[in-house]
Amino acid sequence: MKFFVDTADTSEISELNALGLLDGVTTNPSLILKSGRDILEVTKEICGIVDGPVSAEVAATEYDQMMREADVLSKIADNICIKVPLTFDGLKACKAITGDGRMVNVTLCFSANQALLAAKAGATFISPFVGRIDDTGEDGMELIAEIRTIYDNYDFDTEILTASVRTVNHVKQAALIGSDVATVPPAILKQLVKHPLTDKGLDAFLADWAKTGQKIA
Ligand code: G3P
Repeated sequence: MKFFVDTADTSEISELNALGLLDGVTTNPSLILKSGRDILEVTKEICGIVDGPVSAEVAATEYDQMMREADVLSKIADNICIKVPLTFDGLKACKAITGDGRMVNVTLCFSANQALLAAKAGATFISPFVGRIDDTGEDGMELIAEIRTIYDNYDFDTEILTASVRTVNHVKQAALIGSDVATVPPAILKQLVKHPLTDKGLDAFLADWAKTGQKIA
């Protein structure tokens, strides 16, 4: 499963990218607001840090303006992936943009039928928001499983990008189900490495190693 980081914070992106664990980045209008930076400037910087797809979201809701915004965003860098909302205008834009050979991430997906439409519109990625579904009392991961089945039934190439990830368990479940990608906030990506038995075991090995009096290098 590929890991994207869900942030527009360039220092977090640089830190995670240096670990060699990042396959891409997703941003959205709320994350741009949180960064306090100009969308074109910060997105260009992010595209220079990571080699993989960097999702940048259009702000328009109407097709013609979405296409104008997509053209501006596309000029930022070759690894830009245009993010459009799951509406009929968004799907129409998705078809046109992917038809030009550009990547599209269809966002704000909350149902299997929406994901089916996005695949038929040629989406590169579909972003089901699992955390926001959990917030309503439903199980967001069930949606990932449904989309996996539907995409496999018809051999759709659209990649499932599990989004709105709130816990390390979301990451594990996404991987078990066969999500192609998970976009994960930096803090949760960092939590993935942690296990108390790893810390305990390492302390014991280090203590024993010190007693040997040896050095490897
Ligand atoms: O990038 C979209 C997504 O991951 C949003 O997450 O936490 O705002 O529901 P959240």
